[in-house]
Amino acid sequence: MSEQNGTGKPRGKSRKWPITVAVVAVVAAVAGGGFWVWHEQPSFCNAICHTPMDPYLAAFEQEPGVQGVDKWGNTVENTDSMLAVVHAVPKEEGGADANCLSCHKPTMSQQLTEVSEWATGNMPLYANETYGLVLGERDTEQLGEWLSQDGDAFCLNSACHNITRQDLVKATAQYGERNPHMAMHGQQLDCGDCHKAHRASVNACSRCHDDAPIPDGWLTYDQAQEVANRA
Ligand code: HEC
Ligand code: HEC
Ligand code: HEC
Repeated sequence: MSEQNGTGKPRGKSRKWPITVAVVAVVAAVAGGGFWVWHEQPSFCNAICHTPMDPYLAAFEQEPGVQGVDKWGNTVENTDSMLAVVHAVPKEEGGADANCLSCHKPTMSQQLTEVSEWATGNMPLYANETYGLVLGERDTEQLGEWLSQDGDAFCLNSACHNITRQDLVKATAQYGERNPHMAMHGQQLDCGDCHKAHRASVNACSRCHDDAPIPDGWLTYDQAQEVANRA
């Protein structure tokens, strides 16, 4: 998993071109069908895109409910605060049995854009002490755009959470005035403003309200800013 990239070439700019070719070939193969069984395994994302997917796979494969690390290698007090971890839990244990593709529906345009951004160095990349590189962060709004849907539909859709915003407000009614799902101050925050998949989630209301609920393992707005700035 860790250092080998399959090409045997040293790390450096030239290494990206074989990857590009491989990925384009894979995208073509996917388009041609017959590829899905492997493509649906989390190891696929990691094997094909090598370095940039290592930290995501490592974070994804952690146990729920324990101390762990995020995609940048930061300590996360409770891995339950990372959506990718909790969604990977088997259905019979209350999870969603999710793999990478349950959340990331790879459209052709998304994959080609990612490959070209990656190959041309046009994508923000951050250093991770253990794995080398982590991609610039996308939010649920951007991820939804790839699928021509609005940001909410990334989570609220018939295959995943077949509920409305109103249902969410009810689900967290115990927080009263600090209910994170209420439309507030003339705006509706995106799910991803608070729920993070590959790093600890953050309650965005805590930017201004010290008494906003911070569930176990979650971060306050300031802590999350600090973590992101360190990346
Ligand atoms: C529960 C849904 C979910 C699962 C499962 C999931 N992701 Fe994500 N992923 C997201 C969301 C939401 C984001 C937006 C950034 C964030 O929240 O951390 C994201 C962002 C990304 C990004 C964009 C770069 C970034 O850091 O924002 C990459 C690359 C990625 N995920 C790869 C993977 C891989 C590889 C796997 C499987 C090992 C995976 N994801 C599993 C939801 C998921
Ligand atoms: C302002 C921050 C914030 C935003 C925005 C937000 N959430 Fe939440 N969400 C939370 C917090 C905090 C919890 C409580 C987690 C806990 O108690 O462990 C929660 C809990 C949940 C739960 C579990 C509810 C339950 O039954 O206990 C779901 C599902 C959920 N959110 C989905 C979403 C979706 C989908 C969106 C976007 C449409 C969204 N959230 C937007 C902060 C937020
Ligand atoms: C950018 C800063 C900011 C953010 C982010 C923010 N608030 Fe507020 N909020 C305020 C301010 C300032 C007030 C006081 C307004 C006043 O007194 O007129 C307030 C007042 C409120 C009130 C009225 C009761 C009270 O405590 O004064 C509620 C309820 C509330 N906010 C909930 C939320 C929730 C829930 C979120 C997250 C979804 C949130 N706020 C996010 C700044 C913010």
